[in-house]
This record gives sequence, structure tokens and C-alpha cells, in this order.
Amino acid sequence: MTAGEDAGQILDKVIEYLHEQMQDWHWTGIYILIEDKLYLGPYRGPATEHTVIEVGKGVCGTAVKEEKNQIVDDVNTLENYIACSVGTSSEIVVLIKDGDEVLGQFDIDSDKKRAFSQEDERMLKEIANLSKNAVREYRAALMASLS
Ligand code: SME
Repeated sequence: MTAGEDAGQILDKVIEYLHEQMQDWHWTGIYILIEDKLYLGPYRGPATEHTVIEVGKGVCGTAVKEEKNQIVDDVNTLENYIACSVGTSSEIVVLIKDGDEVLGQFDIDSDKKRAFSQEDERMLKEIANLSKNAVREYRAALMASLS
């Protein structure tokens, strides 16, 4: 097993655990930042066609562009929104960073409005910090497979 496969399995377990534990999280995933694009990594929930998102586009791309976590109480109020599934009402994006470097992000959707709190953001920031080495390895493998 390569380091990238190992890291992918760790991240997959993290996502699976979060998705199972959190009742109102209907889509739970990781996007990996490489240059100016976000690439879909492990996720749980309905399949999405948004496997690559440009920086600046949607809630995910905005988080990277502004270097700021996003909590959107009602996605229907946004113009710069990429609908993953018609039922989605609220969304949180928390950046996965190593120091100042953005490696990727957690992206979670809920069919309920206002499903995400600052407490969720704090928890995801901690998990992001614990996951950063696995994300870096997974990202290196992904970069190699893209080149
Ligand atoms: N809603 C996101 C796109 C990703 S899907 O939700 C999985 C966005 O606006 O960036």
C-alpha cells in the first residue's frame, strides 16, 4: 500500500465517522486544493458531479479565495452557490491548513436550514488540524496522479 492510499483510508474513516455521528449532516466530504482548483476526495452522501471546483466559485471556492471558513445558514440566499443536491439548505466549509498553507477543506451540507454552528466550526478546525498530515500525503499522491 502506498502512503497516499493509506492517507486516503484514514481520511475516508474520518468522513465516515463524522457523517454517521452527525444527524443533520446529509453530505460530508473533503476537497483537496491543488493550484487553483479543489478536487473531491473521500465523501459520504449522494454522488456529486462537482468533483472539481475552481477557486472563487461556490461556497467551497470562496472559502479558499477569502481564506475564511464559511457557514451559510440558507444557501438559497446565495448567488455564488453550486448546488450539489436540490435538498441542500445550509452548508459549512472549514479549511484544512498547515500553518498558513491551505491544503483543502471539509465541506458539509444539510437539508435543514441553519444546521451548522460555531461549535461545529471549532470541532472541524480541530479535526482539520489532526488530519493535516494525512491530507498532505493524500494531496501529494493526487498531484502525482494528475501530472
Ligand atoms: N455547494 C458547494 C459545492 C460542493 S457540493 O455541495 C458537494 C459550493 O457551493 O461550493
